[in-house]
Amino acid sequence: MSSDSGLLQSIKYTRGQKFQVLDQLRVPHEHEYRDIKTVADGVDAIRTMQVRGAPLIAMVGCLSIVTDMDGKDFKNAKDFLAYIEVQVQALIDARPTAVNMKREGTRLINFVKQQIVLTEDITELKLRVIEWIEELVKTDLETNKAIGDHGANDIIKRAQAGGNVNVLTHCNTGSLATSGYGTALGVVRSLFQKGKLDHAFCTETRPYNQGSRLTAFELQHDKIPSTLVCDSAVSWLMKSRKIAAVIVGADRVARNGDTANKIGTYQLALVAKAHGVNFYVAAPFSTIDGNTASGESIVIEERSPTEVTHIGGKPICPAGINVWNPAFDVTPAHLITGIVTENGVIEPEQLSKKIDEY
Ligand code: MRU
Repeated sequence: MSSDSGLLQSIKYTRGQKFQVLDQLRVPHEHEYRDIKTVADGVDAIRTMQVRGAPLIAMVGCLSIVTDMDGKDFKNAKDFLAYIEVQVQALIDARPTAVNMKREGTRLINFVKQQIVLTEDITELKLRVIEWIEELVKTDLETNKAIGDHGANDIIKRAQAGGNVNVLTHCNTGSLATSGYGTALGVVRSLFQKGKLDHAFCTETRPYNQGSRLTAFELQHDKIPSTLVCDSAVSWLMKSRKIAAVIVGADRVARNGDTANKIGTYQLALVAKAHGVNFYVAAPFSTIDGNTASGESIVIEERSPTEVTHIGGKPICPAGINVWNPAFDVTPAHLITGIVTENGVIEPEQLSKKIDEY
């Protein structure tokens, strides 16, 4: 979804009438929407990456439950709860690394457990679930704007000589990955809106090219001064241009601050450290997984070799070559300057304490 005027909407949803997702496999050249009528449709859209980005995966997953349960009969409230539990698990399994679907799905199950104590009326229970999920989508946008401002203020505060800044981002964390505005890209948007951005660089983000297809599209749309670079150009970029900060999103932040994010993030953090560049992770507080002690136990999704061997359906390497295609990596906490959340910028060493406070 997006409230950024004129930008493509990642979700089109009207209660009781329609739920469609933008097929991000076709962006930027085609803007096709796909109907999501069932949880199976939602799982398929998430698995094939027609929708992607940790917050959006959770919202699409939850909204697919809204359309799936429409018109379905349930014997009783217990039966309804069992149905919700099964659907949530199918959606969590669609992509295992991002914590957002697991977290929102678990909260939804707990919400239904609380509600069935209050009412056993199925129509009423369905309505409460719909309202709960719609609120989730609404809150995401407000969260992103707060993340954007906290991140931008911190970058400005730390910028030497107080001038305008150049920043680098990776993957797509913008309107197309969220309900609107974005997380790491929200920080870039906020810097731009405050008149403090000199230039934004974005990586291609091989193999799936979320950077060149989606982030470049969003930056151009917003008329943000920006340049696309190959993933392999980032060391030279940091050596030859003054970069104030690297800002990336997150799929899961462990209690100790280790962060799973799009493959290539770890090497960006290493390069940033080598060049004395501040490295920020921007994510809603809900992406912090207090139950995961460190990055060691985060499951890293591995995807099809064809994402590496083919571009636009065309082979770019000899047939039969072995391919390893991890979709994410884990950046150790000691390489991270700050984790930008809607509650402010948190140093990784303070994270565990903050998790217990909130
Ligand atoms: O494989 P993707 O495109 O779902 O990966 C996306 C990322 O890694 C993002 O940085 C993360 O999900 C945060 S999106 C706000």
